[in-house]
Amino acid sequence: MKRIIYTKIGGPDSIEIIDEELGRPEENQVKVRVYRAGINFADLMMRQGLYGSNPNFPFTPGYEVSGIITQIGENIEDLTVGERVIAMTGFGGYAEEVIVDSSRVIKIPDSMSFDQAAAMPVTYGTAYHMLVYLGGIKQGDSILIHHAAGGVGTAAAQICRSFGAKLIIGTASKAKKEFVESLGMHFVDREEGDFVRVCKKLTDGKGVHQAIDPVAGKHLMKSYKSLRNGGKLHCFGASSAVPREKRSIIAALRMWINTPKFNPMMMMNSNKAIFGVHMGKMDDEEIFKNHLIELGALLEKEEIDPIIDSVWKFEDVSEAQRHMHKRRNKGKVLLDFSPK
Ligand SMILES: NC(=O)c1ccc[n+]([C@@H]2O[C@H](COP(=O)([O-])OP(=O)(O)OC[C@H]3O[C@@H](n4cnc5c(N)ncnc54)[C@H](OP(=O)(O)O)[C@@H]3O)[C@@H](O)[C@H]2O)c1
Repeated sequence: MKRIIYTKIGGPDSIEIIDEELGRPEENQVKVRVYRAGINFADLMMRQGLYGSNPNFPFTPGYEVSGIITQIGENIEDLTVGERVIAMTGFGGYAEEVIVDSSRVIKIPDSMSFDQAAAMPVTYGTAYHMLVYLGGIKQGDSILIHHAAGGVGTAAAQICRSFGAKLIIGTASKAKKEFVESLGMHFVDREEGDFVRVCKKLTDGKGVHQAIDPVAGKHLMKSYKSLRNGGKLHCFGASSAVPREKRSIIAALRMWINTPKFNPMMMMNSNKAIFGVHMGKMDDEEIFKNHLIELGALLEKEEIDPIIDSVWKFEDVSEAQRHMHKRRNKGKVLLDFSPK
């Protein structure tokens, strides 16, 4: 079977594909023939050595796949060969086959395509965790979403609408204005717009109930300022550390130095809260699994529907990642590993 590897810290050209035999699943494990693997922004950061929690090089990235179970280990009663599933691989998902613990596998309904299934776990799981589980989003709320046209951004917008948010403000590149507006968001140009001012203006000076910020650096303080009294900010990424496809240590350092150090005593006066969110480091798998089950119900009610930007042959993984570096994607980017 074919497996993609990150050979060393580098640009998209440092990615290689190797051939290898995968063994049999052990007790409580299943083997999955992968059809689709999701690409996440985190994968781009890992390739640049800026992620912090990936295995040593060389390694295979890939948090999430959809596919069909082809073998099961001992001690498994609720899964069978031939079932269509999502597998949360952690790492290693960029491959034709994966072996995972059965606790990280969820069956998918016949109505769900492999594309939809692979597009959901990280993007919707993270957005749901922030807005619903931590943020307690309510009907009538106002929400600020950055990277609004991307994988998490489009998922977050759909979740906001499904929970009855009254105002969703989305920042993205200029070329995505129409797309962002088509998702029910008020568009703000990421480069030229002043999202703090827009958040205040559209909420009678109060600010938004929640903001989700995957940019970090000085951008994070602006998101904090966009909140109302009692508002919640989710810090869940650091895209400002990754301005290009090749690593920039200066940008990474700038992000780190400029990220504000909040003082809880000062925060008391405005009743604001900040959550640090990293789904890859959640110890309690049940929380994440429950999010996916609840999201599955929303999908069945047609309240959410993953937006797929593009599906790339896995051999074109470098180009697929370049596409994201160039900020061209609208929605989720997937790799196609299905049998030819
Ligand atoms: N903490 C967690 O558990 C977690 C989980 C999932 C994702 N995340 C974070 O959430 C963010 C979104 O992730 P995603 O996988 O859905 O990716 P994505 O938003 O689809 O990523 C690509 C988009 O990001 C925007 N972007 C902003 N700054 C960028 C930069 N420096 N380089 C390239 N693109 C940039 C671009 O759109 P515009 O320029 O139009 O905005 C681009 O189209 C990332 O920062 C990611 O690390 C965190």
